[in-house]
Amino acid sequence: MSSFKALRVQQGPAGRFSRLESVSLDDLTPGEVVIRVAYSCLNYKDALAVTGKGPIARGYPRTAGIDLAGVVEASSDRAYRPGDRVLATGANLGESLDGGLAERARLPAAALVPLPTGLSLFESMALGTAGFTAALALRRLLENHQVPERGPIAVTGPTGGVGGIALGLLKRAGFTTAAITGKPDSAPYLRELGADEVIARASLVTLGKPLETAVWGGAVDNLGGETLSYLTRTVRPWGNIACIGLAQSPVLNTTVMPLILRGVSLLGIHSVEVPRPWRLAVWEKLAGEWKPNGIERLIVRAVIGLEDVPGACEALIAGEARGRYVVRIGGDL
Ligand SMILES: NC(=O)c1ccc[n+]([C@@H]2O[C@H](COP(=O)([O-])OP(=O)(O)OC[C@H]3O[C@@H](n4cnc5c(N)ncnc54)[C@H](OP(=O)(O)O)[C@@H]3O)[C@@H](O)[C@H]2O)c1
Repeated sequence: MSSFKALRVQQGPAGRFSRLESVSLDDLTPGEVVIRVAYSCLNYKDALAVTGKGPIARGYPRTAGIDLAGVVEASSDRAYRPGDRVLATGANLGESLDGGLAERARLPAAALVPLPTGLSLFESMALGTAGFTAALALRRLLENHQVPERGPIAVTGPTGGVGGIALGLLKRAGFTTAAITGKPDSAPYLRELGADEVIARASLVTLGKPLETAVWGGAVDNLGGETLSYLTRTVRPWGNIACIGLAQSPVLNTTVMPLILRGVSLLGIHSVEVPRPWRLAVWEKLAGEWKPNGIERLIVRAVIGLEDVPGACEALIAGEARGRYVVRIGGDL
């Protein structure tokens, strides 16, 4: 295949925009491994890139798509051979490297993970960066001594990819969970995912004091802003808050009081530049002991084609989506 389709983000005089283009391997950023892409998926970051609302790409034009799963077509790195099944999440795809929303990708071997036994190519993209990030958050919570006895874990943005998968992972790990959502009518869905309690975000009573009644054992936060600020004031002594996202706001107004008077920890979660042994270990967990239940039924909202990506990205930015979009490109190869 000399030319192939790719969703490219461009920088024009009126700003950033994306469109499907016909490109060749020579148009892509360098790498040792050429991959036939089977599936990609959409994360909030992809939505920012594709709609042009966020400066995700570092250099233009750039193929969008922070995740991909596929089959190696050619490799000059001895770690990979034609026919190997691989995945990549984060690892600078769609940022400094051309990404996964294309029929072909060319990537450095270091960006790839061999598809772990126990996951199909499709399942790996149903999870994608969202699943990887939720699992990384669980790993960091456990490493920092979060235990179920300390109380329920509040999960924000739970109808989204990261939050929804986090609910299931936490439940499986023995925690009680509370989904704090902007869509309280999604309560039956959230309970199926693993929520013990569903709370409308709009109903949270906050006094704005540095410390308020401590109700949460810990938290997984995808929103930032006022919601994260509320969580810092209401997590119990020695609880952890895994700080993942900024769907509400990148601003955090808080004080040191929760940290120095309750021993609360704010754990930074960063899914892009992850030490390789951690990355491999997290994917092994997701393929085995932590593999979420009902991936196709609960986590996947829709399987779409490359041409449907812009519309789906608008829904993600509007916060309307529930669950994850998988993008079928070559399909099971
Ligand atoms: N740190 C990392 O490495 C990393 C990795 C992955 C994702 N993230 C970030 O984590 C967040 C979640 O990612 P995702 O892929 O799960 O996104 P998503 O699927 O689009 O879900 C985001 C959820 O947040 C809520 N939400 C959306 N817009 C909102 C708004 N304006 N105000 C308040 N709530 C809003 C909605 O949930 P409810 O309606 O249920 O409240 C929505 O379903 C994003 O900010 C993303 O950039 C960070």
